[in-house]
Amino acid sequence: MQKDAINSIVILTGAGISAESGLATFRGPDGLWEGHRVEDVCTPEALARDAVLVHRFYDERRAKLAQVSPNAAHQALARLDARWAGDLLIVTQNVDDLHERAGAKRLLHMHGELKSALCAACGEAAPWSDALPPASACARCNEPRLRPDIVFFGEMPYRMDRIYEALENADLFVSIGTSGAVYPAAGFVQTARAVGARTIELNLEPSAGSALFDETRLGPATRLVPDLVDALLA
Ligand code: APR
Repeated sequence: MQKDAINSIVILTGAGISAESGLATFRGPDGLWEGHRVEDVCTPEALARDAVLVHRFYDERRAKLAQVSPNAAHQALARLDARWAGDLLIVTQNVDDLHERAGAKRLLHMHGELKSALCAACGEAAPWSDALPPASACARCNEPRLRPDIVFFGEMPYRMDRIYEALENADLFVSIGTSGAVYPAAGFVQTARAVGARTIELNLEPSAGSALFDETRLGPATRLVPDLVDALLA
C-alpha cells in the first residue's frame, strides 16, 4: 500500500463485521433476519401495522447487545482511529454499538442505533438502553410516539451530507462485511472511485458490488481488518 499517498480514509462497515461477535447478519442463508422477513420488522408500514411486533423485535436486538462484545475487527478500527493522523470517517450501517464500545470515535451510524429512541412527533433522538414499549412518551414534547431510532427501508439514512463530503475527499475507501445489497451505501464505492480513491473490499465472500473495487480480499473480518490496519499504521 502506498501509505504516503493516503491521507483521507473512509471505511464502510456492515453486519459482517459484527458476525464473529455473535450478531446475526441480515441476509443469512435462509433469507431471514432472526426469523423475520425484513419487510415485517424494518419498514414504516410494519411499524404502523404492528407496533408491538416491531418494538419487541428491536427490544430483543437491544437486549442482545449486553451479551456480545467487540471483536478484533472492531478493535483494529478503533486502533486506526486513535493513531491515524489524517482524516478518517467510519460509516457503519450497523445499529449495534460495537464500534463505539471498542473505542472508535470518528464514527457515524447511517442506519440509526439500537440504543437510541426517536420521537416520531418532534424528531428528538434520546439515548435508550431498556425495552421501548409502543406509545412511550417523548421527554421533550411529551407525545407518546417514541419508536426505535432505526432507519427503515424507504427512509433517508442519516448524515448523508457528511458522508458524501468525506467520500469526495477520500484517498482510500474500504468496505467491510457488507453484501452491497442496500443503497445508498452500496453506491459509496462508485463515489470514491470517481474522485480517484483506491477501493478495497474485505468480505467473507464476493459481494454484489465486488467488481467495482480495485481489490477484494476474502476471509473473516477478524483476520482481514487487523491485517489492513497494521499495514496502514506500519
Ligand atoms: N467477516 C467478513 N464478512 C462477513 C462475515 C465475517 N465474519 N460474516 C458475514 N460476512 C459478510 C457476508 O458474506 C455478507 O456479504 O457480511 C455481509 C453481510 O451482509 P448483510 O447481511 O446483507 O448485511 P449488510 O450489508 O450490513 O446489510 C445492509 O441492509 O437490512 C438492511 O439496514 C439493514 O444495514 C442493513 C443493510
